[in-house]
Amino acid sequence: MSDHLSALLAARFSDAPQVPADLEQVSSLQAIAGRGSCRSFEPDPVPLETLRTLGAIALASPSKSDLQQRDIVIVDDAEQKSRLLDLVSDQAWTAQVPSLVVFCANNRRQRHLHEMQGLEFANDHLDAFFNASVDAGIALASFVIAAEAAGLGCCPISTIRNRAAEASDILGLPDHVFPVAALAIGRPAAAPRSAPACPCGRRFTWTVSTRRQPQTSRPTTRSAPPGNPMQISAAPTFTAPATATHGQWTRPVNTACRNGKASRSSSATKVSALINPQRRSGRAGLRSAR
Ligand SMILES: Cc1cc2nc3c(=O)[nH]c(=O)nc-3n(C[C@H](O)[C@H](O)[C@H](O)COP(=O)(O)O)c2cc1C
Repeated sequence: MSDHLSALLAARFSDAPQVPADLEQVSSLQAIAGRGSCRSFEPDPVPLETLRTLGAIALASPSKSDLQQRDIVIVDDAEQKSRLLDLVSDQAWTAQVPSLVVFCANNRRQRHLHEMQGLEFANDHLDAFFNASVDAGIALASFVIAAEAAGLGCCPISTIRNRAAEASDILGLPDHVFPVAALAIGRPAAAPRSAPACPCGRRFTWTVSTRRQPQTSRPTTRSAPPGNPMQISAAPTFTAPATATHGQWTRPVNTACRNGKASRSSSATKVSALINPQRRSGRAGLRSAR
């Protein structure tokens, strides 16, 4: 990667930060800043040991209280892979996915730990969903960064959550384990490009700020800055220390901006039905689904 970090960030953000000189040529940072999702692949599947190695690297990423409330399912069974890809076939590019991995949130392991110690599981509320989903998302991001460093291309597939119960059945997921996203992975057929700024604009300072927002009451909706057609929900927390970096503007939860339009996904609601299912049993962990 020969581009300077500042050039890569300037291509993404109209208000990119001033990059310190000592970071300009750090190749690992350049790779992340210049990365892009890949939706066009060479046909060869990724070797199992490569996927397992990437999975182990992904699980070296931070995990809340090191509870590892996440699983990575390497789908190496051809029929299972085909059935899962059928669930997302409304996205035409997924028909040619060489290898597939599914990132799951796992609230089961923590329950087991409590059981083993004879403790009541006190966090049987939104935490059961939130902590596990965040852990899974961190693993997904780390897996993508690791895979791209290994010369592979990836694209997460969140629409698997639209058919979350079927995906869980295909994978034989046990109770309290639910899919967060699938990941298509393979050798890129063409070099992935960084995402261009979306039509509603992409400003670094909308999502990263070092300023605490002085506010006494918490509004539910805040108008977007001029020129941004999106209505932006303001949901920052005001309890963080004044020195903390946290969101100045946040997009609505579950809202994707595509072609300037905001759409609300129902996948979280569908997944939430899987948090406490009473009907499946099986094993969990980093594994190949067979
Ligand atoms: C959790 C998650 C789910 C995603 N689901 C999809 C998907 O279903 N289909 C798709 O084409 N891209 C999906 N993406 C990829 C995003 O669209 C992509 O990361 C975003 O447009 C930014 O582009 P870039 O990755 O090329 O920088 C997903 C990304 C994430 C993080």
